[in-house]
Parts: sequence; C-alpha cells; structure tokens
Amino acid sequence: MKKILITGGAGYIGSHTAVALVNSGYEPVIIDNFSNSEKSALAGLSKICGREVKCYEVDCLDRSGVEKVFLENDFSGVIHFAAFKAVGESTRLPLKYYSNNIDSLLILLGTMSKFGVKDIVFSSSCTVYGQPEILPVKESTPRQPAESPYGNTKKICEDILVDYIKSGADSRIVSLRYFNPVGAHPSGEIGELPLGVPNNLVPFITQTAAGLRVKLTVFGDKYNTPDGTCVRDYIHVMDLADAHVKSLEYLFQQKNNFYDLFNVGTGNGNTVLEVIKTFEKVSGQALNYEIGPRREGDIEKVWADTEKINKVLGWDAKYLLEDSMRDSWNWQLKLGKQ
Ligand SMILES: NC(=O)c1ccc[n+]([C@@H]2O[C@H](COP(=O)([O-])OP(=O)(O)OC[C@H]3O[C@@H](n4cnc5c(N)ncnc54)[C@H](O)[C@@H]3O)[C@@H](O)[C@H]2O)c1
Repeated sequence: MKKILITGGAGYIGSHTAVALVNSGYEPVIIDNFSNSEKSALAGLSKICGREVKCYEVDCLDRSGVEKVFLENDFSGVIHFAAFKAVGESTRLPLKYYSNNIDSLLILLGTMSKFGVKDIVFSSSCTVYGQPEILPVKESTPRQPAESPYGNTKKICEDILVDYIKSGADSRIVSLRYFNPVGAHPSGEIGELPLGVPNNLVPFITQTAAGLRVKLTVFGDKYNTPDGTCVRDYIHVMDLADAHVKSLEYLFQQKNNFYDLFNVGTGNGNTVLEVIKTFEKVSGQALNYEIGPRREGDIEKVWADTEKINKVLGWDAKYLLEDSMRDSWNWQLKLGKQ
C-alpha cells in the first residue's frame, strides 16, 4: 500500500482526505501539531476507517521532527494542508501567518527533496482571485493583490512552487484552489471544528441553530446578486477530499518537473440566503438571522469554472448543497452531545 503523508491531517479537510485515501487503497500518515484541531478527530477517523490512522504530533516548522517522520516512512506522496487559515487573525498577526504557512512549505519541500519524495498536492484557495471581473472564474484568470496576509501566504506559496519547478526541480506538484468547503463526513464522526467564533457561514448557521449563538448576521443584502446577498461556491468536503486523491494519481502519471493547478468547486454559486433556506429545509430548524451591514473585505460573488478539473482529473462534485447542510447539521448535533 502506498503511504501518503498528510500534514494537518487532523484538521477539517485533512481528516476527510485521510478517509478518501483509505477508501482508495492508500495508507495515510498524519503530521499535526493540534494547533487548530483535537485528538478526538483521530478517534473519529479510526471509527470510519475501521483501523487506526498513524499520526505524529509534530510541528511542520520543526525540521528535524519532520525528517524523522520521513526516515520512518517510505512516502509515495504528500498532501500539505498544515497552515493557519483565519483571515481576520492574519491581519492582526501577519508574522504568525507568514511564518507558519510559508516556512512549513519550505521545510517540507526541502525534506521531500532530501528523501527523494517527488509528489505534492498543495492547499491553495480561491481567495487568490479576489473579485474576478468575469464569472465563473477560470484557472487562467489573473490573480489579484491579496486582501489579507492569509490570502497573501497562499499566493506566495503558489509562487514558490512555480519557481521551484522553473528551477528544474525533480518534483511533481498540483495546487488546488478550493472554493468554500462545507459539510462533514456523512457518519458524523468527523467534521469542521471551529475554535472560538466561526469565520465561515455554515458553522455559524449550525451553531446558531444549536443555540450556541443567539443569531446569525447576514453581512449586506444590497449586492448585485439575485437576492442581494453574497454568492459563493460551496463544495462538500467529501468531494474536495476526493479531488486530492485524483490529483495524486494524476501526479503519479507525470514526468518529473511538473506543475499544474485546478479550481475545486461545484461550478455553481449560492447566495447566503439560499444557504440559510436550504439549511432550514433539511434540518427543520428555523434560523434566527438578521440582515446587517456589509463586512469589510467581503467579495460580492465568486464561483468556479470547473471544466479543467472535470476534464483533466475526471473529477466532478457529487454532493448537493442539501447534502452539505444535512451533514453539517448532523455533525453539529454530534458535537453538542460530546
Ligand atoms: N477551510 C477552508 O475554508 C479553506 C479554504 C481554502 C483553503 N484552505 C486551506 O486548506 C488547508 C486545510 O484547511 P482546514 O480547513 O482543514 O484547516 P484546519 O485548521 O481544520 O486544518 C489545518 C490543520 O493543520 C494543523 N497545523 C497548522 N499548522 C501546523 C504546523 N505548523 N504543524 C503541524 N500542523 C499544523 C492544525 O492543527 C490543523 O489540524 C489550509 O492550508 C487552508 O488554508 C481552507
């Protein structure tokens, strides 16, 4: 069985990707420092996979710690999720974000080169597009100046990977630009674990419905969108996880010194109010929400052109928004019981 290293594998997207890897016959090995996750995610993972998933409690900034993991395991590929991701915090603590998100990538690439591991899938984000003029947004659409230090780390990491390949490095690299990951594993054993006040819409919805928050504020309803609220492309985390397996298998077929990048979204945009209505429909819960002022830095609308990933990787989003809302709610109910 091919071993795949997942950095940040105890986190939201990483844990679901571990499941997708196991389902496709790979052996995931996790590195995580639990700075934004809990060990209970590993128990959930074991339950779903029917066996333990190996995890090293190592910080990706600890070069010798990372090297030790490579010494003990013969990896066929790496998926690099480990990063900080809170946009607001990144504007207050930029150095924390630049250091963690960029140094972890540099240390990982150096270690991979030392141990002859060529293939890496990198977690990028649609945030690199800013507000595109033409929608849906294609991979060829020029990136815009980042709105936050977090967004800038994604741009810089993409640039590092491109320069690395330009230098003639032996590596094979895919960057995936995620749109808005939502949902949870249908079993309710793993899901998103926002620490503190959630930045993202769906955890805020489920926490409000569960009574953990008094009400949800919708930031603005005068945008140029069908109902005036912002539009995003909500991609179920299980579909997103699957895109990583497809990316790795694509890399395995390439010649050395290779770089490619893909949007990962559904290809459809939904407004905030549509998401709320869908949640209310599938959960049977009436949500306490109000319309508030716009939030600074919010993009009006963005959704993915998925033609490239559909054609090249043979990947397509299978889950519907209803599924995402049902699975997020199921996960929230499970969390409430812990
Ligand atoms: N969730 C989103 O909305 C979204 C959107 C676009 C891109 N991304 C990117 O996808 C990746 C995964 O996101 P997620 O939502 O699963 O986040 P997450 O916070 O749930 O998972 C990240 C994991 O990495 C770990 N980690 C962070 N720094 C580390 C370090 N130095 N060493 C070891 N472990 C470390 C955390 O403890 C956590 O378990 C990130 O790179 C993120 O920027 C996420």
